[in-house]
Amino acid sequence: MDAAAIAALLAAFGGLAFIVYFFFGSFAHGAGYEPTSARVAEEMIRLANPSSADLVIDLGAGTGEIGLRVARERGSRVRAVEIDPLRAAILSARRRSESDRQRVTIVRGDLFDEDLAEADVVFAFLWPSTMARLRPKLERELRSGARFVTHYHPIPGWVPYATAGPVYAYRAPECWGPGLTRGGT
Ligand SMILES: C[S@@+](CC[C@H](N)C(=O)[O-])C[C@H]1O[C@@H](n2cnc3c(N)ncnc32)[C@H](O)[C@@H]1O
Repeated sequence: MDAAAIAALLAAFGGLAFIVYFFFGSFAHGAGYEPTSARVAEEMIRLANPSSADLVIDLGAGTGEIGLRVARERGSRVRAVEIDPLRAAILSARRRSESDRQRVTIVRGDLFDEDLAEADVVFAFLWPSTMARLRPKLERELRSGARFVTHYHPIPGWVPYATAGPVYAYRAPECWGPGLTRGGT
């Protein structure tokens, strides 16, 4: 094999390794990477209906498909929480080109460490097992009237106030249903 063929092979392996890391690297934390489309993000924002006075927390913000759009379109304060350093860096670079960038705070860390008590709206697009794990935290921390809007995977056992295709919108505390109290007991 000549040098050019070896270089091409190494480049192909490098590219493959990058793709595997980028899309699947955060599986262990609660979801791999799959960006929400503009159409679905619009639907999530429409159902959550955040205002410029609201604090929005974007759990597993990825590269900012939802969080940056909310700040731009609704003028809300946004806290975007992302565990993957590469995606957080892309999000940070994208934030710099936004005119409303001062409204967006990026938290590089685990969403399970984020306090949700001040949030008016929380967005998420995470794996089903992570949704189940998130449920008791949401029931402990979301204040009355806060909305939780998720793409694709619902919170098991909760009752949405609205759905639109793959989007589920919940409002605390009604969403945890009759007879359920904080903590889901
Ligand atoms: C399916 S992607 C959704 C990205 C973005 N919210 C969107 O809708 O386009 C899930 C994101 O959650 C992040 N994530 C997974 N587990 C996390 C955790 N425990 N804490 C923070 N972010 C997490 C992943 O790194 C990934 O960027």
